[in-house]
Order: sequence, then C-alpha cells, then structure tokens
Amino acid sequence: MAREEPLLAPRPSSDRSSIRNAEEEDALLTGERTHRHQQRSKWAFWKEIGLFAWALIATIAVIVLAVVYQHEASKNPESDSSWGPGGKPTGKRNLIFMVSDGMGPTSLTLTRNYRQYTEGLPIDNTLVLDQHIIGTSRTRSSSSLVTDSAAGATAFSCAHKSYNGAISVLPDHSPCGSVLEAAALAGYKTGLVVTTRITDATPACFASHVNMRQYEDRIAEQEIGEHPLGRVVDLIFGGGKCHFLPNTTEGSCRGDDRDLVEIAGEKGFHYLDSRKSFDSLNGGSEAKLPLLGLFADKDIPYEIDRRSQNEVYPSLEEMARTALKTLSQATADSDQGFFLMIEGSRIDHAGHGNDPAAQVHEVLAYDRAFAAVLEFLENDSTPGVVVSTSDHETGGLAAARQLHDDYPEYKWLPGVLANASHSSEYAEQVLNDYLSKQTSQSNQRAFAEELLKKALGVNDASADELDHLLKPHLPYRRAYVFADIISRRAQIGWSTHGHSAVDVNIYASSTRDAWRLVGNNENTDVGAFLADYLDVDIDAITKKLQSPKDWSWKPEVESSSTHNWMGDPLGEDIRTEGLDTYHGEFKRSLDSHLQGRDCGCGAQH
Ligand SMILES: *[C@@H]1O[C@H](CO)[C@@H](O)[C@H](O)[C@H]1NC(C)=O
Ligand SMILES: *[C@@H]1O[C@H](CO)[C@@H](O)[C@H](O)[C@H]1NC(C)=O
Ligand SMILES: *[C@@H]1O[C@H](CO)[C@@H](O)[C@H](O)[C@H]1NC(C)=O
Ligand SMILES: [Zn+2]
Repeated sequence: MAREEPLLAPRPSSDRSSIRNAEEEDALLTGERTHRHQQRSKWAFWKEIGLFAWALIATIAVIVLAVVYQHEASKNPESDSSWGPGGKPTGKRNLIFMVSDGMGPTSLTLTRNYRQYTEGLPIDNTLVLDQHIIGTSRTRSSSSLVTDSAAGATAFSCAHKSYNGAISVLPDHSPCGSVLEAAALAGYKTGLVVTTRITDATPACFASHVNMRQYEDRIAEQEIGEHPLGRVVDLIFGGGKCHFLPNTTEGSCRGDDRDLVEIAGEKGFHYLDSRKSFDSLNGGSEAKLPLLGLFADKDIPYEIDRRSQNEVYPSLEEMARTALKTLSQATADSDQGFFLMIEGSRIDHAGHGNDPAAQVHEVLAYDRAFAAVLEFLENDSTPGVVVSTSDHETGGLAAARQLHDDYPEYKWLPGVLANASHSSEYAEQVLNDYLSKQTSQSNQRAFAEELLKKALGVNDASADELDHLLKPHLPYRRAYVFADIISRRAQIGWSTHGHSAVDVNIYASSTRDAWRLVGNNENTDVGAFLADYLDVDIDAITKKLQSPKDWSWKPEVESSSTHNWMGDPLGEDIRTEGLDTYHGEFKRSLDSHLQGRDCGCGAQH
C-alpha cells in the first residue's frame, strides 16, 4: 500500500526523488532500511503519515464500492449492464445455435481484411461477429486432440465428449440424448438449417444417432421420424436430397430403394425441392410445419459460386430468415418457443480445399446470417439468444506465407482473392469436364490458361503450374492445385487439408444470457449451456433412448445384418459403391477402394 504513496504525493524535486528511489531500491535489494528518515523534519514525517492514511482510505473505499456494485449487479438481471447468474428468461424463450464449421480465428482476420480491402472500409470496420465475441472453445474429442465434426457436434448436442465419427453416441456406442430431442419433447418447435447435406455430421448429431457418420441413409431416416422418439425436427433446410431418393431414381445416393420423400410425406412433411418452392413460402409467412426443404442433391454450392446461380439455390441468410419467421409464427400462440440450429457448413470445405477465395465468401455469408438472427432477436417480443461457435478449425490457415528463402515481407494480398470469381472446386469441375472430352495437349493447355484467368483471376500462370494442373494421374484433386495457385499469390498459408486443434471463438447476442460461456470453455460447456438455457433435461432423453420399451418407433428387423439401429460400430455397414463423398478419418482405410476415383467434395470433413 505504501508504494502507492509517491503517486498521490505532490511531486518532489527530481533530484531528491531520484536519490530516494535509489535508496528504496537499495533497501528492497538488501533488505536494509535507509537512514534518511531520521534526518527529515517532523513536519515531513506527519505529512507522510497523513498521505499514507489518505491513500489507504481511498483504496479501501474503491474496493468496497466495487464489491457492492458487483453484488448488486448480479442480483439484478433486468439491468442491461448486468451479467451473470439469473440472466436467463423464466418464461417462453427462443434459442438459436449457430455453427461455423471449420472456422478458426484466422478465418475472421482474413475475411475482415478482405472486406475492408474490397469495400474500401476504414481499419476499424469489423465483421458483425467481431462485435459479439465472448469467449473461446477447446475442441478436442475423446479419441484425438484433433476432433472431427461428428465428435465436435456431439459435444454441442449431448454435452459429452465422444470419438471422431460418433453421431450423438458415447464412446461405449450407446446413444446420448440431444438438446434438440429434449427441446422437441418439451414442446419447443425445432429446426435445422445447413448448406451441406442435411445428413452430414453437424445436423445429424441433433436429430439422429449412428455409430459412424458415414451411415447417412440411416441418418436421413431418423431425421424424418424413423427415430426411437418419433419425429423430433419440425423444419429442415439444406442439401443432401440424394439420401432421400430411392436407388432406382436418377440423382439418388441411397443404398436401397426406399423413397424417404414419400415416407416423409406420409408423416406429414411438406416437401420443397427447388428455389421456386422455397420462394413460395414468402419468407416464411406461407410456411406450414413440418417442412422438409432439400435444395441440392449434395452440398449447396459455395457462396462464391452460388451468387451467380441465385435463381437455383437460396442463400444461408435467406434460409435462416425464413426458418426464423416460420418457427416464430408456429410458436406464436404456444407457451414454448423454438430451438433452431443454423450451420455455415462449407467454411470447413473451403478449409479442406485450402481455398482462401471460397473461404472469405463463406465467412461473409455466415456473418450476414448471424446479423439476420440478431435483427430477428431485436425485433421479436419473445426473449431469445443466439450463440455461435465452431466445432474446430480446418486447414491450419495462416494469414502470411513465406514463399522463398529470403526473409519475407510483412504482407498478404487480399486483392488476389478479390480477383477470383469462382471457387477452386468450380474450376476443377469445369476443367475435368473439358479434359474428359478434349485430348489435344495444346488445346488442354490453352483451356486451362483461360480458365485460370476467367474463374480465378490469375493472368500469369507459369508453365510449371499448367503442367501440374494437367498431369494425367494426380494423386490428389485438381482443385488443390487451383487453390495452391491462388494461396501462393495471396501469400496465404495452410498446414493441412484436414482439421487442426486450435481453440475457436464463441459469439453471442448478449453476455447477459450467455454469461456461462464468457472466457475459455470446453466444447461440452457449449452443449450444457444450450440445455440449461432451454431448461431441458438431456440425461432423461439418454435414458429413454437406452430403453427400447419407451420407444414410439421400432426399427425393422434387418435380414442382412445383426447390427442395431445405429449401424455397426466397426464400420461393417459402410457402403462405398454409388457414393462419391467420403468423410472422416475412416476415409483412409477406404482409400484403396477409391483409387482413380474423383472425390466429389472436400474429402474428409
Ligand atoms: C437398390 O436397392 C435394393 C434394395 O432396396 C437392392 O436390392 C438393389 O440391389 C439396389 N440397386 C442398386 C442398383 O444398387
Ligand atoms: C425488424 O424491424 C424492422 C423495423 O420495423 C424491419 O424493417 C425489419 O424487417 C424487421 N426484421 C425482422 C427480421 O423481422
Ligand atoms: C486483379 O486484376 C486486375 C485486372 O486484371 C489486375 O490489374 C490486378 O493486378 C489484379 N490484382 C492482383 C492483386 O492480382
Ligand atoms: Zn471438416
């Protein structure tokens, strides 16, 4: 306390103070008192005592006031400035949970820089997400320090760690209740909005249980209500139609001839499969639940490609707005609100593809969807909260890259990304189509060179780069070569085509409601928060799922296998024929089946 004294005392002459400071330092170092005090006048002694007492009283007063204020603040959740326990509404409420799949902290920097550059915005202009950051999440799974999206989403849905590949099942392969299932049984309306297949890991974890994420046919069945607890999802918007169509139909990727669209219809679902039918919902005012909207066979195209096909596919923001309107309308006269999960699914795919141009547009689209949710919450009379986080980072993205032995310049170049009008995935598809028809080498070369200019804005492709792109038996996707051409020019680095272990950000509409997630959290804390905010008991759902006598649906006995309704834990039920997308770590053991085949998406997610 005494060390505060010089701050409060009138400044002594510089000469004297430096001597005193030197003596005090000596005293501190040697532990011996100085003798100067004895030589000073009585007045100086009393002055020092007075100043000391004053400093002491002031310090105590500040501490007391701070404690009293904090105490009062925590007692009064109604006040806007307050955080903490008690910040949860007591009556009807809505919860929107957003997942930015594969978006790490660097994705935000990259996108913020990009937007400032392209729109000529000032240095302090940030993304909407930036203004709502409240914490971070540690993402490891039970089986690895680097999680996949299945274990990541199980942490959110069940609030339990599980193994990579697990779809809301525990490490012992028993099912765990999800927050969406608990919400549905408690009378909330529920929805899932994604830009990938609705059968992919993140949405799957909220409404189904399988031992391996590859069992997407089973996931589709459970999502439409062939589920131990009956139908739990009221609204579905996304891609992945192919898992709902019988194998006798063009565009199907099912292993059997079951027509899930027809079965969903029998269960009451209104089915939408086009932009036109989506538009007929009129932003949700004409929508009736339950609703099954499947707008692409597999993934909805990357935003960078979708924006020039806006008449074919709705955007994430449009789907989010329509879902919010539909769910709030459907719960207008209800005592319970809704739970909606919205995923920016393909930020992850752009990371797997190491495609920075596709990624910034995915993040911008996600930021717009987040802003739309905030706008909804601000307008809506029912209290609610949005929490947004990522399951993991993808790509080991770095906003800098050393290209040569020389010490590098400090920069990265957003202008390179701004010049790209399409994703590397799109360029790959166009080139592969051409190469399958045209065999003359000089034509192939001219075509690739022109494509680089038109789709990626690269006007200076080297001979080596063109050789690489046109190599007949590349051991990896051509999209990787396109993405590398862009990344090098923009001086953007990547350390992997897979995921990484870095902590990811947590965002929320307010720290008042999401106070439990302020600071550094385990990903399971996010799941626990979701259940707590809705006041639902996921352990009770786990018990129901584990006791078949309580089920409202009985799985048909499968003649071909003894495996239970969640599929074989060891992957015996995984199909390789007829599919061109494989996911998760399991892909490595399947690779031998895939030699020479072109994977239709970002490989492992
Ligand atoms: C379609 O599914 C049926 C079983 O439902 C199966 O017997 C048949 O072999 C499948 N056909 C193809 C082409 O995969
Ligand atoms: C919110 O309210 C504003 C002003 O009334 C309106 O323009 C906007 O469309 C509303 N947004 C939503 C999502 O309801
Ligand atoms: C973007 O394209 C323009 C027009 O072709 C070109 O002048 C500019 O140098 C390009 N920018 C970058 C960073 O490559
Ligand atoms: Zn992934």
